[in-house]
Amino acid sequence: MADCITVANQKGGVGKTTTVINLAAYIAKAGKRCLVIDNDPQGNASSVLAPDYEGPCVYGSATPVKTRIANLDVIPCGADLSDYELRLQQDSQSVRVMQSLLADIRDLYDVILIDCPPNLNILSINALLASNKVLIPIQCEYYAMEGLSQMLGSLESIEHDFAHSVGLAGILLTMYEDYLALNQQVVSELRQHFPNQVFQTLIPRDVALAAAPSHSNTICEYDPLSQGSVAYLAAAKELLDGLRV
Ligand SMILES: Nc1ncnc2c1ncn2[C@@H]1O[C@H](COP(=O)(O)OP(=O)(O)O)[C@@H](O)[C@H]1O
Ligand SMILES: [Mg+2]
Repeated sequence: MADCITVANQKGGVGKTTTVINLAAYIAKAGKRCLVIDNDPQGNASSVLAPDYEGPCVYGSATPVKTRIANLDVIPCGADLSDYELRLQQDSQSVRVMQSLLADIRDLYDVILIDCPPNLNILSINALLASNKVLIPIQCEYYAMEGLSQMLGSLESIEHDFAHSVGLAGILLTMYEDYLALNQQVVSELRQHFPNQVFQTLIPRDVALAAAPSHSNTICEYDPLSQGSVAYLAAAKELLDGLRV
């Protein structure tokens, strides 16, 4: 049965979607069967992995579609995802909808990665309750520690309220700039507080990572030799080493 990993952070623009699509591409290239679920109404992961998709979102029909990359499928964000978000919000029983929808397809994959919106709303809670792990991308900036503590606190509340435990697949530091003393400080502070949980791999700020989506490409298609690509390859290996697949 697949390891199901929610990629979440209550902040926007920290590299969640970039992490999902590029880790997924490298997990698939490593020969693992991988599924991405686009659980963010912004649909950024879908515009890279399934740019021509016009079907329903995961809550409408949990039907994976193939991507250009072998071993990599996606359940894209349909135009109906915003409607489902409203409907789910209004129904207190609706936190485990994704969990039950995925039950039938979990056996088909080794790793499932779920991209989330930038808040812990009903869509993120559905993802977390369908997952056994959470991966938290953190941007190397001044408030990183505060943001992370807040995030971990919220995760604990969700685990407690819904009696569902989610292990930490890791904290991935993104948009790292080697020459900035502040970035180095953030990294050492986070490594001190979370010694075994921060990925060894740092994701550098790399313009190729920002440019790839405008060509509807993952980084391994767009510029496999770029620094960002090499980093996501290493992060994918680290992630797989910590999983049961
Ligand atoms: N390591 C990186 N280097 C350069 N640009 C990046 C990097 N990671 C993400 N970006 C860019 O930053 C913006 C926000 O990233 P994104 O993955 O969409 O964040 P989120 O999903 O958390 O909102 C996007 O324009 C993306 O292309
Ligand atoms: Mg995103």
